[in-house]
Amino acid sequence: MASKQYLMIPGPTPVPPKVVAAMSMPVIGHRTDEFGRMYKRIIENLKKVFQTKNDIFILTNTGTGALETAIANTVSPGDKVLSLITGNFGERFAKIARAYGAEVIEVCFGYGKDVDLNILEKKLKEHPDIKVVLATQNETSTGVVNDIAGIGALVGKTPALLLVDGVSGVGAIEIKADLWGVDILCTASQKALMLPPGLAVISVNDKASRVVEENKSPRFYFSIPAFKKVYDKWNTAYTPAVSLFFGLEAALEMMLAEGLECVYARHAMLAQATRAAVRALGLKLMAEDHCASNALTSVWGPEGVGADELRSIIRKKYGVSFAGGQAEVKGKIFRIAHMGYCDKMDVITAISALEMALAQAGHSFQMGEGVKAAQEVFLGRV
Ligand SMILES: Cc1ncc(COP(=O)(O)O)c(C=O)c1O
Repeated sequence: MASKQYLMIPGPTPVPPKVVAAMSMPVIGHRTDEFGRMYKRIIENLKKVFQTKNDIFILTNTGTGALETAIANTVSPGDKVLSLITGNFGERFAKIARAYGAEVIEVCFGYGKDVDLNILEKKLKEHPDIKVVLATQNETSTGVVNDIAGIGALVGKTPALLLVDGVSGVGAIEIKADLWGVDILCTASQKALMLPPGLAVISVNDKASRVVEENKSPRFYFSIPAFKKVYDKWNTAYTPAVSLFFGLEAALEMMLAEGLECVYARHAMLAQATRAAVRALGLKLMAEDHCASNALTSVWGPEGVGADELRSIIRKKYGVSFAGGQAEVKGKIFRIAHMGYCDKMDVITAISALEMALAQAGHSFQMGEGVKAAQEVFLGRV
């Protein structure tokens, strides 16, 4: 295996040296003023990324813990939950709701497709007693981005809460939690926030807070009321991952110094170049054009060459890691992430490795065409 590694999977993603350096600072006590001041600065910056004025809590667990927090605090046994499923992570959100005793109405839109707002509108009319709607901003298993603004506008006309899994979207793709009517927004550290795994972030608005107070489901570690008790003192309910907080502060500073608009534009450009390259190599994209994610690109394995075989060549020969397919597309697709600490030359490296592996696997195509297509995008010629 090549010694130099290029991590192009949709989490964990590469961590910038500045963030690594910040995380190597000596650990401090979490009940100190120093920690409290840092916590406050981090929350202020997270509010800019989430575009919210509401409370934001940082949890020492992965993204699934944030999703479970959202469910445990809003779903009581027997509650009706509408789950908008566009892939594996939408299915996971539904599973958590079921684990908390919800009556889950699952609407599956198909792999590679996004949420159809007409169907959502119909479902909301059919079931006026829906208490919670679950949606995924960026479906990592398929590389599809959902129209959270559109979903929020429809759910906002009803008493239901909108819970959004933004684990792989927040920081790569714009989200306006308050303006778009997202009642609870969840994300995690190891994706576009450019940190190692271990932190999750959740915002909760007033509409959701009222439900949280009355919710019947048992919760302890995941209790939002417990987080709230110490929030005003700039403290956390339990021991936080202090070193990851140092890293989060540095990562947010980097994002805000670049400018959020520029961060989103960079992701859009990397996605455009990746898609252009994949098409130029004669491969098929999984996501429909109108909903293709700017955070990652899913590609069908070429005829006669297994997607996993291709990934294995790319990783073993060239040190580049792509992710494989999950659930019903396991072994059929590969996923190239371009989220977080990722730039033009990362995409060029990835496409170049893909071309060499395709050549070795006997796929017929014109060598260099993929790299050229990406370069044309970066040069602004298309
Ligand atoms: C959209 C989405 N939701 C939830 C998760 C689960 O997050 P974690 O693995 O951090 O628990 C992931 C992880 O890949 C994800 O991409």
